[in-house]
Amino acid sequence: MSNGCYMKVLVTGGAGFIGSAMIRYLINNTKDVVINVDKLTYAGHLSSLLEVENNERYCFIRADICNRGVLDKIFEHHEPDVVMHLAAESHVDRSIEGPAAFIETNIIGTYTLLEATRKYWNTLEDDKKKAFRFHHISTDEVYGDLNETAAPFTEMSAYDPSSPYSASKASSDHLVRAWQRTYDLPTLVTNCSNNYGPYQFPEKLIPLMISNALAGKPLPVYGNGLQRRDWLFVEDHVQALYAIINKGKVGETYNIGGKLKSLILRW
Ligand SMILES: NC(=O)c1ccc[n+]([C@@H]2O[C@H](COP(=O)([O-])OP(=O)(O)OC[C@H]3O[C@@H](n4cnc5c(N)ncnc54)[C@H](O)[C@@H]3O)[C@@H](O)[C@H]2O)c1
Repeated sequence: MSNGCYMKVLVTGGAGFIGSAMIRYLINNTKDVVINVDKLTYAGHLSSLLEVENNERYCFIRADICNRGVLDKIFEHHEPDVVMHLAAESHVDRSIEGPAAFIETNIIGTYTLLEATRKYWNTLEDDKKKAFRFHHISTDEVYGDLNETAAPFTEMSAYDPSSPYSASKASSDHLVRAWQRTYDLPTLVTNCSNNYGPYQFPEKLIPLMISNALAGKPLPVYGNGLQRRDWLFVEDHVQALYAIINKGKVGETYNIGGKLKSLILRW
């Protein structure tokens, strides 16, 4: 959709792990303008954006995606061509201890963002309306768990979430698809496997294991330790997200995984 022109990309959750990688990619590899909307929870760190913070194509707005009034003003003022929605509560263990924030941000926040987007989108001229994209970045955990011998998930796999986190992401996926089918909002959904890479918060498996090992602390393993996970390098992931924004088919879902045997770790 870029046709060689630049786009204005509103990224939610841009101070998080994947969002910040997305913004570094956009600023360093495209001519696009980036509006980063992030509440800066415990998981949001502007230090991951130091290399782009003074770029004239980048701006940061501290805001909660549950705040409709603020979202309306952001859309009105910045007039984005694309929304990349990455703001979320993202840690499974935290969702088990305290699910409320997951329901609030992942479900109510996504609904609020969809409604603010729809209001703005309805004001656009036909060509801009057609070219507009709302991209929801989600997880393959919506499909549940696989046993040792099962084939990998596909976009046709049934939803079977097993934690408050994955249930809240499943819910937000359904909301995004419903806004496409009901209101024709041009949406895309991507479901990715576990990411790893620079600036990941050390509650997630790979940085947790590395920092615990360096500190001589125990390495926490659930169950019998034979579980398998697909791992995706975050900088490969954001390239895939950019390709999907530009070439993806409206209303489609795309699964994104590493699929490299050497990167399927046992934990
Ligand atoms: N990290 C992974 O391995 C992984 C895997 C699959 C899917 N995902 C999905 O990708 C997206 C990004 O994941 P991540 O790992 O970068 O998450 P993260 O936890 O590192 O970052 C989330 C960001 O969202 C912000 N945020 C939280 N609540 C907000 C709110 N109400 N309003 C505005 N901003 C808010 C936080 O401040 C933070 O900067 C999430 O939707 C997550 O579900 C992540």
